[in-house]
Amino acid sequence: MKSTYILAIESSCDETAAAVVRDGRCVLSNIISSQIDLHALYGGVVPEIASRKHIEHIIPVTTEALKAANVSLAEIDAVAVTYGPGLVGSLLVGVGAAKAIAYAAKKPLVGVHHIEGHIAANYISHPDLEPPFLCLIVSGGHTHLAMIEDYGSCRILGRTHDDAAGEAYDKVARAIGLGYPGGPKIDRLAKEGNPEAVAFPRAHIEGSPYDFSFSGVKSAVLNYLNSCKMKALTGETRHPANMAHAGEEDYLSYLPEGITQADIAASFQAAVVDVLTMRTVAAAKAQGVKKVAMAGGVASNSALRSRMRELCEENGLCLYYPEPIFCTDNAAMIGAAAYYEYRRGVTHDWTLNAVPNLKLGE
Ligand code: KG4
Ligand code: ZN
Repeated sequence: MKSTYILAIESSCDETAAAVVRDGRCVLSNIISSQIDLHALYGGVVPEIASRKHIEHIIPVTTEALKAANVSLAEIDAVAVTYGPGLVGSLLVGVGAAKAIAYAAKKPLVGVHHIEGHIAANYISHPDLEPPFLCLIVSGGHTHLAMIEDYGSCRILGRTHDDAAGEAYDKVARAIGLGYPGGPKIDRLAKEGNPEAVAFPRAHIEGSPYDFSFSGVKSAVLNYLNSCKMKALTGETRHPANMAHAGEEDYLSYLPEGITQADIAASFQAAVVDVLTMRTVAAAKAQGVKKVAMAGGVASNSALRSRMRELCEENGLCLYYPEPIFCTDNAAMIGAAAYYEYRRGVTHDWTLNAVPNLKLGE
């Protein structure tokens, strides 16, 4: 059978990315131009800067993706692009470029849901994985537990009521002075800390066993830091070993004896990992599925991966997650998702527009 080549473009947040994917599973090129260093100066993504940088990078990155794959535009079967959800100015750059390329090269256009892309990243790393399976989607903007019933078809079992898991990582990282992007920094530092040092809350949502809430644990960290400061200022505790950090990171100088920045990172992470893993395994059991996957930037978290592995083993579940490079934003995952859309005849016309709040499973 003739192979299908998809040129995919992703620009929903702060990564300008393009990739060429063969038959949905084989990545021939995966080019990512990250703006992380630029946004780190401001402590988070600045939308206006992001869209300007996408404009600068989109054509070089796309050209590079074709070149690295050694595939010409004429050999491409379809052009795929993320059209939502994401930052509107960022999405528009990718959508505009994909439409122009597809129109000029007379190729079909396939608009892809960003989260469908994250889920499809698993197809790249696990050529044998096929639906149905349960998927925990944990990114900077989304936290969902979903049954993937078929390619491109999912049923949401649970979602976050407030912050996404990655958002909580980023906010807590900022609060404890680690900077942006917080997820990988907390992941690294937590390895040196005691996850039981501080008992942060594990939120349960009454009547919604598979939903999440992360604003509580984030506030608990902030409250903990404030209460340490209050106690220290009223003379109860102040650990001299932490004094060296005073001025650099104000709160560090107020931590009680024996508690470090790494302990707070590890304790926060333990609370997040606990709820993510326990709810996922409970949902898998209730749904009677044996295959569990993870997707999104937070799926590259080492503590989440290892705890989920343990729990899945204990419960006879088979666990899948993408390689780290396919967990965070990339275009290869968009090409993988697009392949299954294209295969069942889904294409878009030139009216395709960016949809910043595109919903999943609706
Ligand atoms: O999927 P992604 O690249 O973008 C969105 O679609 O949102 O996810 C980015 C999020 C950020 O919040 C980042 O801090 C988090 O994923 N992240 C991590 C790790 N790597 C990225 N969180 C925890 N541990 C990591 N190793
Ligand atoms: Zn993403």
